[in-house]
Amino acid sequence: MTTPHATLHVELGTRRYPILIGHHILSDQLIALLQQSLPHHGRNILVMSNPTVAAHYMEPVLQALQKADKDYRVQHVLIPDGESYKNLATYSDVMDVLVKHRFDRDCVIIALGGGVVGDLAGFVAATWQRGVQCVQIPTTLLAQVDSSVGGKTAVNHPGGKNLIGAFHQPAAVLIDTDVLTTLPQRELGAGIAEVIKYGVMADAAFFQWLQKNIQRLLDKDAEALAYAIHTSCAIKARVVAADETEQGQRALLNLGHTFGHAIEAATQYTSWLHGEAVATGMVMAARLSCLRGFIGTTYRDAIIELIAQAQLPIAPPAAMDIDTWLDLMSRDKKVKDGTMRFILPTGPGAAGIFSNVTQAELTAVITESVTRS
Ligand SMILES: NC(=O)c1ccc[n+]([C@@H]2O[C@H](COP(=O)([O-])OP(=O)(O)OC[C@H]3O[C@@H](n4cnc5c(N)ncnc54)[C@H](O)[C@@H]3O)[C@@H](O)[C@H]2O)c1
Ligand SMILES: [Zn+2]
Repeated sequence: MTTPHATLHVELGTRRYPILIGHHILSDQLIALLQQSLPHHGRNILVMSNPTVAAHYMEPVLQALQKADKDYRVQHVLIPDGESYKNLATYSDVMDVLVKHRFDRDCVIIALGGGVVGDLAGFVAATWQRGVQCVQIPTTLLAQVDSSVGGKTAVNHPGGKNLIGAFHQPAAVLIDTDVLTTLPQRELGAGIAEVIKYGVMADAAFFQWLQKNIQRLLDKDAEALAYAIHTSCAIKARVVAADETEQGQRALLNLGHTFGHAIEAATQYTSWLHGEAVATGMVMAARLSCLRGFIGTTYRDAIIELIAQAQLPIAPPAAMDIDTWLDLMSRDKKVKDGTMRFILPTGPGAAGIFSNVTQAELTAVITESVTRS
């Protein structure tokens, strides 16, 4: 295989960029792809990663950069592995590296890792000298289908997740499905939750495909993964192109996230992975939607069944009481003018944004989710 399976584009006018999806990208094609994405000689390049990912994939990337152009001045920096390091202290350490090596406005930041590395590298690129180019090489399924595309960059503050950030679109996203072979199974599952999200919110045919092929994804079948990543990225690219800064329909990508973020916060971002919380959040959104009469019980149960088949959790922690739920959901970043907004499925492949959900409805859904699941 010498060409990527597919190239998608995020259509943003002069900031249009490619998403390349294939296998053997890091081993065979990186040189050509980097030359296409980074046309100028003599550039400073910083590759950001963490020790876990670097152990597997840093060497091929550095070698490709050397072979691509002897003039590239390449540095690399490893940030500690973990969400708790996606903060201003790590950001500042990376800035020190850029200062030390006199990186200029022509430099390029390459993010090699999951969403933590990607969000931090993106924020570094957004702010270094008021914005430099960033190339995303996502290595988790979640990063491949979600965080590497769309230009949301951020670090956490002790007061909340992703509170400090910027919109800054990458110059290119290079997705090598081969890297998923080393991804822990639980992280794969968390990515599958976001894949299911795209089927529920935007693509009924894809939802049906997932019903038939979920086991192939769990088994890391390369062809099935490539198809799921491609379909997910195509949906995300379309939504981002239509609503880059989330004034409207981009919010649909947060299906399951209002409930999910509350679960993550209640469990101190430790015991649940983001994708696992989103999976349960989607179950709760489906239940709420059914309660409101938007979808019937058959489709509601199909959503719950698919999430269960993906070996993702379908019940929230029983210990969360209703006051905790309401408190945490009302603190969510997606709250507008004091009202909570819920993204609810309204039919196969369709979802809507609703801000008139009552406390009684929420209580009913939370109770039902704990007891029925
Ligand atoms: N910017 C966005 O639009 C957006 C969207 C969704 C999530 N996010 C952010 O993404 C982050 C979560 O990202 P994540 O789920 O990728 O987690 P992560 O980056 O923490 O990666 C998960 C784990 O997998 C390891 N890993 C990564 N690739 C690997 C590989 N190929 N082989 C073996 N191990 C590998 C990592 O070292 C880490 O331990 C959160 O900070 C979240 O806020 C951002
Ligand atoms: Zn998410």
